Amino acid sequence: MLPLSAIYEPIQEDLNSVEDRLRSMSQVPDKHLSELLDHSLKAGGKRVRPILTLLSGNFYNYNRDALLSMAVAVELLHTATLVHDDTIDKSAVRRGLPTVNAIWGEDKAVLLGDYLFARAGEHCANTGVVLVTKLFAQTLATISSGELRQSFDAFRLEQTREQYLARIIAKTASLFVLSTESGAVLSQAPESAVTILKEYGHNLGIAFQIVDDVLDFIGNEEELGKPVGSDLAQGTLTLPAMLLLERYPEDNPVKRFFKDPTSLDDMRQAVEWVGNSAIVEECYDIAGEYSTAACRNLNHLPDNTSRRALLALANYVIKRKE
Ligand code: IPE
Ligand code: IPE
Ligand code: MG
Ligand code: MG
Repeated sequence: MLPLSAIYEPIQEDLNSVEDRLRSMSQVPDKHLSELLDHSLKAGGKRVRPILTLLSGNFYNYNRDALLSMAVAVELLHTATLVHDDTIDKSAVRRGLPTVNAIWGEDKAVLLGDYLFARAGEHCANTGVVLVTKLFAQTLATISSGELRQSFDAFRLEQTREQYLARIIAKTASLFVLSTESGAVLSQAPESAVTILKEYGHNLGIAFQIVDDVLDFIGNEEELGKPVGSDLAQGTLTLPAMLLLERYPEDNPVKRFFKDPTSLDDMRQAVEWVGNSAIVEECYDIAGEYSTAACRNLNHLPDNTSRRALLALANYVIKRKE
């Protein structure tokens, strides 16, 4: 597997500019806001979404100004969703640092999330392209609806794999699609190429979230920079837990834990059973199928370093530990 740093080499310089712009956002007169921005935007995230925008914009007319604005916008939108997600989950660690809610409290975190959403919208509008601004707004609505569905479905055992898929498409894959589609649109890609890059983002996003859900069972907090085991604790039924329910429909620790969320031994047992079963393999196989599907039509795009980078990224996503 190529490390992420080798994958984004074709757009390395512009990704550095994205990083500079994110850092300069904390230069605001208000000292408290400045601290919050500095904390939540300093390096630490993988920057997968801006990488996708810059790579996707690199096949036709590379419109640097617009692509940089959009790349900043998708990362700000992503960061805002994480600030709110950690607040909802009462999570203590993100990107290897204490969360905003842990340091400043939930009220400040909610408001910072709003601020980041607003700034994201501003950067998106700076592209001057109404279509991507509309896509941006639609994506934010879709992510929120996915997170709401997840919240309403907490501790519910009767959920199908189709519902799981619909949920992760909404909460995660939609932003991957925005990232690739906007890159394509802003570089005046022909319709067929826009479709190929949208499909790539959609399938990559699904694979990415399935792997995230597996890592929540078997990952390492140090490498991930965020706590493991939190999905079950939140009552979020993800693919590994669903497969465990399918395997042991009668006597099942997930069932017991969802019926009584104080029974932490059941939660631990569920994590252990998943880790010691072929479920992990099975989830990786499913993620692998989406990763393969993501790359299905890339060969119809112009052959260049960005096309090879997208291929490598699809491989990275299913092997990552971070
Ligand atoms: C975390 O996303 C949220 C999910 C969609 C699983 P990332 O794993 O891309 O988080 P950062 O930006 O690298 O911290
Ligand atoms: C988050 O998915 C997706 C968002 C829209 C924020 P997760 O809930 O799995 O993300 P982590 O594991 O907290 O990063
Ligand atoms: Mg979460
Ligand atoms: Mg997760």
